[in-house]
Amino acid sequence: MKNEFNSEELLRRVTETKVSTGNERVRSITKRVVTDLFKTIEDFQVKPEEFWAAVQWLSRLGASGQAGLITAGLGFDRLLDILEDEADKRAGMASGTPRAIEGPLYIAGAPKSFYEARLDNGKMPGQLVVMEGVIRDTDGNPLSGALIDVWHANENGHYSHFDPSQEEYNLRRQITADQQGRYRFRSILPPGYAIPPNSPTAELFELLGRHGNRPAHIHFLISAAGRRALTTQVNIPGDTYIDDDFAFATRDGLVVTLETGASPAGYESLGIDGPFTRIRFDFKLQEAVNGEDAKHLGRYERAAG
Ligand code: DHB
Ligand code: FE
Repeated sequence: MKNEFNSEELLRRVTETKVSTGNERVRSITKRVVTDLFKTIEDFQVKPEEFWAAVQWLSRLGASGQAGLITAGLGFDRLLDILEDEADKRAGMASGTPRAIEGPLYIAGAPKSFYEARLDNGKMPGQLVVMEGVIRDTDGNPLSGALIDVWHANENGHYSHFDPSQEEYNLRRQITADQQGRYRFRSILPPGYAIPPNSPTAELFELLGRHGNRPAHIHFLISAAGRRALTTQVNIPGDTYIDDDFAFATRDGLVVTLETGASPAGYESLGIDGPFTRIRFDFKLQEAVNGEDAKHLGRYERAAG
């Protein structure tokens, strides 16, 4: 009866270690995940049809490149931020601007400029905005030469690169702050974002009875010598979903104020000669703990090592 066994024995055989090669951490985590899934299947009496429908869904998810999208909606991205915040607190680190999730839509290599940039091409519908401020350390000192990647959705809530109808790097720039740590850019206020309809992600959210909307936001990846790189977003106030983000990424300290009535004087180099909306926002970067955390890298670049 060597090859006849119950589910407990099967689990033991699946997760047992016969050799010492491979990676111990991967082995332990896999064991835990498989154990929990075995238990879920047994507890819910998951039927074969249900199991294989889920496997097909996973294949569709992978094929659509949306694996890194569903993580935000299921709370994993925010979880990682919460855990990092807690670790900082335990270590007694001075906190900087709150971190917020990167999301799946960052791409490296955006066009570079010094101090200021224009993200829009002047033809986009939407509210003209200038966002400006200073990159500082946690004591408030400006960080000369800080590097700022900024990206956001277009008037339809879509991101260039992932949306083939947009020009390459539309609404994506990398700005180097000036000697006083200052940056500024001109763009349009983005609308909110919704997960792609008819996608594997949307399928699951429908079954969960959840919406897939994010409030209007602008993404940042900011770094400076000796400081820990900061991945964050700012939120545009007044959005219906500001406290009901499907990705749980809104943070109270990151909702900006929209100023109207500012004089266009001094903004000529951004092509502004009339009314516009201004956002003033300074970012504070924590001290770097090791060389790694200071690197200007997106999540997948960081994971690739
Ligand atoms: C997702 C999209 C975003 O624009 C974002 O900032 C975070 C998550 C998503 O589709 O999962
Ligand atoms: Fe986004």
